[in-house]
Amino acid sequence: MAKFTENFLWGGATSASQYEGGCLEGGRGLSHMDYIRRVEKEDKVKVFPINVTAAMLDEHKKHEDDYNFAFRRGSDFYHRYKEDIALLGEMGFKTFRMSISWSRLFPTGLEEKPCTDGVAFYHNVFDECHKYGIEPLVTMIHYDIPIYLTETLNGWESPKLIDYFLHYTKFIIDEYKDEVKYWITFNEINMVMNSSYLGGGMLVEKSDKTAESCIHQALHHQFIASALTAKYFHEHAKSSMVGNMIARLQNYAYTCNSADVLAAQQQNQFNFFPTDVQVKGYYPSSILNYYKKQNIEIDWYPGYEKILREGTVDFAAISYYHTAVISAEEDKKEPIGAFIRNLKNPYNKITDWGWGIDPTGLRITLNDMNDRYGVPIFIVENGLGAHDELTKDGKVHDAYRIDYLREHIKAIGDAIDDGCQVMGYTPWGCIDLVSCGDCQMTKRYGFVYVDADDQGNGSYDRYRKDSFYWYQKVIRSNGEDL
Ligand code: BG6
Repeated sequence: MAKFTENFLWGGATSASQYEGGCLEGGRGLSHMDYIRRVEKEDKVKVFPINVTAAMLDEHKKHEDDYNFAFRRGSDFYHRYKEDIALLGEMGFKTFRMSISWSRLFPTGLEEKPCTDGVAFYHNVFDECHKYGIEPLVTMIHYDIPIYLTETLNGWESPKLIDYFLHYTKFIIDEYKDEVKYWITFNEINMVMNSSYLGGGMLVEKSDKTAESCIHQALHHQFIASALTAKYFHEHAKSSMVGNMIARLQNYAYTCNSADVLAAQQQNQFNFFPTDVQVKGYYPSSILNYYKKQNIEIDWYPGYEKILREGTVDFAAISYYHTAVISAEEDKKEPIGAFIRNLKNPYNKITDWGWGIDPTGLRITLNDMNDRYGVPIFIVENGLGAHDELTKDGKVHDAYRIDYLREHIKAIGDAIDDGCQVMGYTPWGCIDLVSCGDCQMTKRYGFVYVDADDQGNGSYDRYRKDSFYWYQKVIRSNGEDL
């Protein structure tokens, strides 16, 4: 029996800041991502690049010309979009997830009128997709804030971002609504809780609030911006769908001791809460309670309850990479909401970057979400970041990636069999791009290899990996031939 519906959206995912490049062309302004750079200490201990501080940002600004900013190059999609989309077409993609760069259209975020070159670029990209029967799936913001807004307003800490964002989103909805059927407002809206610079374009040390209050304030502004966008979307793009998205982390109890089970439940509630707000249209009481207990102070946006109620989304999207193990014991406790966890799951193999591989966790998550929300679920990111080797004859033998994806697709099929409503699957980085957390090309996810290294050396030529042909077969057989 075929598990996947006939219109199941097979595809792949990218983001402008990690893939597009062409950072100063066509009048584009710089974004906060363009100031993230990979730093390795002499002893090779890696410094996580995404947690930019005010001091780092000042230093990076002084070295505009001589520091290596990999996100500014991406994989050069800006110049190679025709070649890339042809490759996606060859694989048989039904959809292609990409994001629009806010600063390509509104360089500082404040302009009244958008850059015409930027507007034309995305029309060209969508046209090219349609030539191959590919429906674009567009994320309105994927970690991509005009740097001017970070520097002058401290990013999403300020309610003014809501107005600037709405100016941008209303423009793209009006301009592209006939070319794009599927949209997502914010990529991984919960990420601001783990990296305030990456997810919120903020420097928490510049805020008058405590770090936690600043973060939840920013998240509140993002919820409002998303809800007002969704409302406008429903009024103006009636034949299209808009979703939200979180980085989903399925949390398991360390033992069957009820204290551990409760701790895991709390982590799951916390991880789900942004989707609760965006699908159900209100803050869950567990979170409001948490705010009270932790003295988290929010300046509630006027009329926010009505705005959230009226701005719910049509589908719930997730990224899914790994699961986590939670204990209530003092020495094993993790801060609530933290994404990187120390407790290992002995039943999971791990990737070269230490991420646990857990396809069944995806089936569990899909079932949980299906019961909780009752809207279609879209897995818009999943995949294996790995070291790939390009052979002399231009091949990449990535059987490990095929194994990983096969098991996850089986888990999705099983979840559909359980009764879950899953609308599509777009594995991450379908063409190699710059890793977000590590700011490097070395961590590759794609079906297509891009000949570039961490410093930006290389031809940027594209090569089909073994997984390219495998995924082509999967799509052709609608998930039957794995
Ligand atoms: C998701 C992000 O969290 O994970 C992507 O939405 C990111 O932008 C992906 O690239 C994989 O993470 P990483 O750090 O391996 O690039």
